[in-house]
Amino acid sequence: MGDLSGARVLHSQFHFGLDTLSVARQTDHAVGLDFSEHAVANARKLAERAGLADRASFVHANVYDAGTVLEAESFDIIYASSGVTGRLPDLQGWASTLCALLKPGGRFY
Ligand SMILES: C[S@@+](CC[C@H](N)C(=O)[O-])C[C@H]1O[C@@H](n2cnc3c(N)ncnc32)[C@H](O)[C@@H]1O
Repeated sequence: MGDLSGARVLHSQFHFGLDTLSVARQTDHAVGLDFSEHAVANARKLAERAGLADRASFVHANVYDAGTVLEAESFDIIYASSGVTGRLPDLQGWASTLCALLKPGGRFY
């Protein structure tokens, strides 16, 4: 994703947050979103253990509600990696929901 310093990054459907925490090592504003309560709880524990809780936050939500739960936020980069699209009922809705959270000129990676 290139140089992330200073970037606000949303990691969608983060699983247990390892990639979110890798991002948080490179910027001070990383947000993960996942609809699994278990994933969120474990990611928060990992962030504490890694000393990254002040740079990484984890939101418990359905990705289709991201525009509502993150309405005050906008991001330079939105990141989604392997395994996130396979079971989604509406791929176009997923992409447009996330892209609406990008700052002008932001990237959906
Ligand atoms: C295969 S895992 C993602 C793995 C991740 N890319 C990684 O590399 O670690 C899929 C994740 O998507 C989440 N997920 C699936 N559908 C979702 C939805 N509609 N809203 C939010 N999270 C969702 C699941 O809870 C799970 O954590």
